[in-house]
Amino acid sequence: MTAQAPPKRRPVRLSAWRTVAYEIALNGWRVLRETVNDFSLWRIIEYPWATKALDLHPGDLVLDVGSGTSSYPHMLAKEGVDVVVLELDPDRVRWQLAKRRTTARPGDGRFFPLVASATQMPIRDGSILRLAAVSSLEHIPDDAAVGAELGRVLAANGLAALTIPYTSTGRQTFFKGIKRFVPVGPNAFVQEGKVGSFFRFYTDEDIQRVYVRPWGLRLSELRGFGRSILNGRYHETRLTRYWRKFVLKDLLLALTVYPLEERFDASDPLYVMFTLRKG
Ligand SMILES: C[S@@+](CC[C@H](N)C(=O)[O-])C[C@H]1O[C@@H](n2cnc3c(N)ncnc32)[C@H](O)[C@@H]1O
Repeated sequence: MTAQAPPKRRPVRLSAWRTVAYEIALNGWRVLRETVNDFSLWRIIEYPWATKALDLHPGDLVLDVGSGTSSYPHMLAKEGVDVVVLELDPDRVRWQLAKRRTTARPGDGRFFPLVASATQMPIRDGSILRLAAVSSLEHIPDDAAVGAELGRVLAANGLAALTIPYTSTGRQTFFKGIKRFVPVGPNAFVQEGKVGSFFRFYTDEDIQRVYVRPWGLRLSELRGFGRSILNGRYHETRLTRYWRKFVLKDLLLALTVYPLEERFDASDPLYVMFTLRKG
């Protein structure tokens, strides 16, 4: 008798279209004209990338660090992936739970909310095979503690998919066209008069120092987004005040301009996306 091969599990893939469709299904049509969470042009690029980079399959478990009020954990749950939402702000975790209660369907993955800091995760050493942190780590001042925690919680061969703001040469100013941010350290800024609005850009050396070297993790090639058109001419102009609106326009940009920029534009990206693997 020959042993039967286990059935192949289909990989989970989120296209840009599917990401927007999920956003509408989860939050209603109003997401097309107003921001109800952190969904934006960048997320239409980041969620498909992170899902593919982690090579997710139904039944896998993802630790999503700094989830905020993102729909990403719900999209993953709808695809049959189990998700741990780790977020510092209890109100945002409550928001996540309320969203889950109203949208959960039989067959979804499981959903575990956790109010905790990425600098001190209540998670066992070496227990996480897949971790995502989408546009969240740049808001945490003590990133050295986050780097140490990422390496600690990752299992052998575990994979983390991170997206963070980038600069190759250093950044003296934040963005033109939006509220005033003041420098508080190398490439780090806080919004004038707003506590807890920390934001940092990373150089290649910072990425190595904070996230790669402490645990000797293996860094993938950096993918970027937001170059001269999507960042410079679009994001950093007075149009910025509209940038979080009109998701269909963002979808169009993500499908057309983003691939062209990545192919032909060598200027600094606003954000980089990369994976880290524990050897
Ligand atoms: C830009 S928002 C969320 C981005 C979200 N991942 C998405 O996909 O849209 C960043 C989040 O990080 C959270 N955060 C800040 N410091 C944190 C920390 N030390 N540990 C965990 N989460 C933190 C903030 O409360 C905020 O909700």
